[in-house]
Amino acid sequence: MEFTIKSGSPEKQRSACVVVGVFDNRKLSLSAELIDRASNGYISEIIRRGDMEGKLGATLLLHNVRGTLADRVLLVGLGKERDFRDREFRQAIRNAVKLLNETGSYEAVIYLTEEKVKRREVAWRVEHAVVVAMDAVYRFEQMKSEPAEVRRPLRKLTLSVPQRSDLAAGEAAAARGLAISHGVDFTKDLGNLPGNVCTPRYLAERAQELGKEFPTIKVTVLERPQIEELGMGSFLSVTNGSVEPPRFIVLEYDQSPRKQKPIVLVGKGITFDSGGISIKPATDMDHMKFDMCGAGSVLGTFRAIAEIGPKLSLVGLIPTCENMPSGSATRPGDIVKSMSGQTIEILNTDAEGRLILADALTYAERYEPEAVIDLATLTGAMVVALGHVACGVFSSSDTLARALLAAGDDAFDRGWQMPLWEDYQEGLASNFADFANVGTRAGGSITAACFLSRFTRKYDWAHLDIAGIAWTEGKEKGATGRPVPLLTTWILGRESSA
Ligand code: BES
Ligand code: MN
Ligand code: ZN
Repeated sequence: MEFTIKSGSPEKQRSACVVVGVFDNRKLSLSAELIDRASNGYISEIIRRGDMEGKLGATLLLHNVRGTLADRVLLVGLGKERDFRDREFRQAIRNAVKLLNETGSYEAVIYLTEEKVKRREVAWRVEHAVVVAMDAVYRFEQMKSEPAEVRRPLRKLTLSVPQRSDLAAGEAAAARGLAISHGVDFTKDLGNLPGNVCTPRYLAERAQELGKEFPTIKVTVLERPQIEELGMGSFLSVTNGSVEPPRFIVLEYDQSPRKQKPIVLVGKGITFDSGGISIKPATDMDHMKFDMCGAGSVLGTFRAIAEIGPKLSLVGLIPTCENMPSGSATRPGDIVKSMSGQTIEILNTDAEGRLILADALTYAERYEPEAVIDLATLTGAMVVALGHVACGVFSSSDTLARALLAAGDDAFDRGWQMPLWEDYQEGLASNFADFANVGTRAGGSITAACFLSRFTRKYDWAHLDIAGIAWTEGKEKGATGRPVPLLTTWILGRESSA
């Protein structure tokens, strides 16, 4: 989809559709007011009849409104004016775009971006309008033999800003929103692909393609012999039961003016998690094709960053393999040696994410990083704790945690801080190895984070447990592309502060 920024009166737009807001209860926004005046009170007449109260989520499509140059006028309910915040703004845009995509307009001018949102500037509104619109029209149909064609899909959106002096900021914000959306779409596609297509080899190929598309990204793919050479015994133990070979993907983006220490992103890339010998129950096991969404988010974030091109240094590390049961699979009780030299008693082969991340986190040391962030669909307990709204943020540095939370708030891709106190470490004690890969069931997300912390002593580190936010269930089942917006926002914020 294409986006342009414009400043001008709604009644003068020659367009297939002009989109304006109405607040609850029956209060016209400024742009709705202008249409009302041009049409001799037609809008207020409709509102008097009770067809549009202004409730958030309501839409009303009008044709041939006199006094205007557009084919249609779409009224969108915005809810109570004093409650109009981030969530409400995004919801209104989503409703408008969904409706536009299902009706005859292949193009429209949206005035909702002129409405004031508490604490937010025009750039925020434009960026979010783009991200939400792209999210609303996303479809995954590459595996269907006959994709369901949208009759006249929405091709072009014009976003209106209050003043001509807002145009430049609006255009920059739209470009940024579009780059984030391209990253999000990439992450969604990878997540939605089934495990028999999206294998470790496939992920590596897509990473290499990304490197071709963006010459600023250097991609290196390590195969089994090199992974063995590095001594990644923890990572390799997870691949034992699978016939699909593992990959270790390294992405490097360095546009920093003086050789700066990089930020390192590490993504869990389990392309299917059966649980291994500690096999999972059958119900919803298909969801475990999404167990590479951490890896997908690293790739999506690189896509977004490379498109924007900030002057900084970024490294991506993706350990990727399948977790399968077989005669050669790792057994509960097996002890392996990680790249760090620490030995691990694998008491549960379903706690595999932390095993592959451990070695990637050790590998990260060679970059002497500014900070390392890992992203992983790590624990079911995280879904129980925070549901599908926020991801869990664990960090050895409160400053880093706060910066990530703030970026999540700005990007409306929110996280919530979880504790990492020493008290939780005790659960990992083992009688036979340095420590075990699981603790007690209670506080499962925290003991998982504690396990990772044992491989991150040499740098500032944060862990995002994205198990609850990486995909949605039910009718709209599919990958969300989160936390690409959070990460991209955080990374871009570091450029300006550097
Ligand atoms: N990939 C899963 C975590 C998961 C489960 C994410 C369900 C989203 C929904 C992870 O590898 C796993 O199996 N974790 C176990 C850990 C346990 C064995 C300590 C879990 O959460 O049950
Ligand atoms: Mn598992
Ligand atoms: Zn897993």
